[in-house]
Amino acid sequence: MPATVIVGAQWGDEGKGKIIDLLARDSDIIVRFQGGNNAGHTVVIDRSEFILHLIPSGILHKGKICIIANGVVVNPKALLDEIDALDKRGIDIDRRLFVSTSCHIIFPYHWKLDQLKEEKKGRGKIGTTKKGIGPCYADKAARSGIRLSDLLNDDIFKIKLKDNIDEKNEILNKVYGFGGFSFDEVYAEYIGYRDRIKRYATDTISMINEALNENRRLLFEGAQGTFLDVDFGTYPYVTSSNATAGGACIGCGISPSRIDRVFGVVKAYTTRVGEGPFPTEFSDELMSKVRNKGKEFGATTGRPRRCGWFDAVLVRYAVMLNDLKEVAVTKLDVLDNLKNLKICTGYEYKGKKLDALPSSAEMFSEIKPIYEQLPGWMCNIEDIKNYKDLPENAKRYLSRISELINAKVSIVSVGSGREQTIESM
Ligand code: IMP
Repeated sequence: MPATVIVGAQWGDEGKGKIIDLLARDSDIIVRFQGGNNAGHTVVIDRSEFILHLIPSGILHKGKICIIANGVVVNPKALLDEIDALDKRGIDIDRRLFVSTSCHIIFPYHWKLDQLKEEKKGRGKIGTTKKGIGPCYADKAARSGIRLSDLLNDDIFKIKLKDNIDEKNEILNKVYGFGGFSFDEVYAEYIGYRDRIKRYATDTISMINEALNENRRLLFEGAQGTFLDVDFGTYPYVTSSNATAGGACIGCGISPSRIDRVFGVVKAYTTRVGEGPFPTEFSDELMSKVRNKGKEFGATTGRPRRCGWFDAVLVRYAVMLNDLKEVAVTKLDVLDNLKNLKICTGYEYKGKKLDALPSSAEMFSEIKPIYEQLPGWMCNIEDIKNYKDLPENAKRYLSRISELINAKVSIVSVGSGREQTIESM
């Protein structure tokens, strides 16, 4: 399949890093198409953990080309830190990493606004990662953002940065009582970044389309997840980009006709970080049990993730939105010691069964999940390599999920290591 898009089908943190790493073996080019350093993709190789925030996980495979495409918002410091960290661990990225000149750049006023807006909202806050993602995308839509191509042109950069700092300082000062930023300091800091980043700056739109013309195998890597998508997620408790499959076209500059396959990743249960509705959230001791066994702490912020039962209604909707034919189910081993497992098969709102997903976050937060209970397998599955060797109850759980979401389960992950993966079922 020359062009595969990979998306998360829940609220992010589905374990995409590991699955991207797996699918990257059979790809030539791996492209990140949205989000920024709010993401955290974890890959474990030979017990060594790599957390990537901006650079596609494909970089860990020798010789693969990685692209940060136009839909991504780039914090240059975060990018350079990541490049340095890879370098320290002996991973050579020379002529393997390309960054779109159309990427919007994150500036200190973006993360400061993100932080102050959240503080001001108080109880109504979104629970963002405070990395400046929302304010940077807001500038993009307001047509006042600064792109990598602007940073590369000193005359243009000076004018745009000056205009932005003047405007943002006024907002920071008058609305939030914050002193503001000095043009000279921000300019000097970003010129330093520019000098190091310019070697990666590329017209990735042509590069990607040419690679597709040459039938090279491309993997388009989505960050976050379907229900954090700004259009289809649990708005306003979402991120500011399109994390669904359609986002790959806009985020890379390719036509929908170019995409051959969309692959989904789901966790064997559900998690979310930050605020917002979560119908199947655990309310008892299961929360800490699953959180600890699953190491459910944010890869970017370290925040404890909220955990709950698998929500088939939600994932079925993600299957429809992204036209998923297949999914990978990750972290099945986390459920090893649970006697009974629940799957949410329907929603009830004010005593009535719902046929579709609620359209507002307020309605969503009043949903009562309808559960089906299945027996757990109560044994360790971490070392199982073949589907046929899984306990019967684990197979039953997977096949019920597949039936309810209307997609094939073609990969199962039973641990964080590359080898703890069951493929082609
Ligand atoms: P933002 O993307 O930092 O603006 O955060 C908006 C919402 O998306 C918050 O609930 C974050 O916790 C959530 N979020 C952003 N990135 C990720 C991610 O990579 N995994 C899980 N949640 C995320």
